[in-house]
Amino acid sequence: MWHDGRVTTTDQTSSVLTLRVNGGAHRLRLDHRTTLLDALREHLGLTGTKKGCDHGQCGACTVLMGGRRVNSCLLLAVMAQGAEITTIEGLGGPEELHPLQAAFVERDALQCGYCTPGQICSAAAMLGEAAAGWPSAASAGLDGPVTLDAAEVRERMSGNLCRCGAYVNIVAAILDVSREAASQEEAR
Ligand code: FES
Ligand code: FES
Repeated sequence: MWHDGRVTTTDQTSSVLTLRVNGGAHRLRLDHRTTLLDALREHLGLTGTKKGCDHGQCGACTVLMGGRRVNSCLLLAVMAQGAEITTIEGLGGPEELHPLQAAFVERDALQCGYCTPGQICSAAAMLGEAAAGWPSAASAGLDGPVTLDAAEVRERMSGNLCRCGAYVNIVAAILDVSREAASQEEAR
């Protein structure tokens, strides 16, 4: 607006918000249009989360929000306020690998690795969805426990693309973790 012959502006394009990521709280001033993906990568330096398509098509940007998998390129950072966000860095790291990270290494389930953080975050949530009995298009029925076989894993992970085509080993790694969790559950 014009004031005393000078142009002044009211900042209505950014806000200070708090993002809870990997157990820590981060206060940031962000343009309202900033996606959660860009907030994580460009403002918090959490570059494990990858930008592939930036259009919700590849799954490279998958993170967990309140334990559910989301495409962080499709969410505005302001929409993530108050939620617990977990990125690949929060799942595990060199000091202590998450079982899925260890299984991906064991099974050689990556080539360039670009899709891997998204694959692992997605799989972590997917295993919980299957354990809770959520059906998929590959499930025999809508009720009852889910038997997580290769067809189920492929269907449930279909939102995560791998341009290197490492799918066979990705599915094997996820099934390893699923079987290990099931045998631990039986032993209880
Ligand atoms: S970068 Fe988000 S789905 Fe591709
Ligand atoms: S390992 Fe290269 S895109 Fe999946």
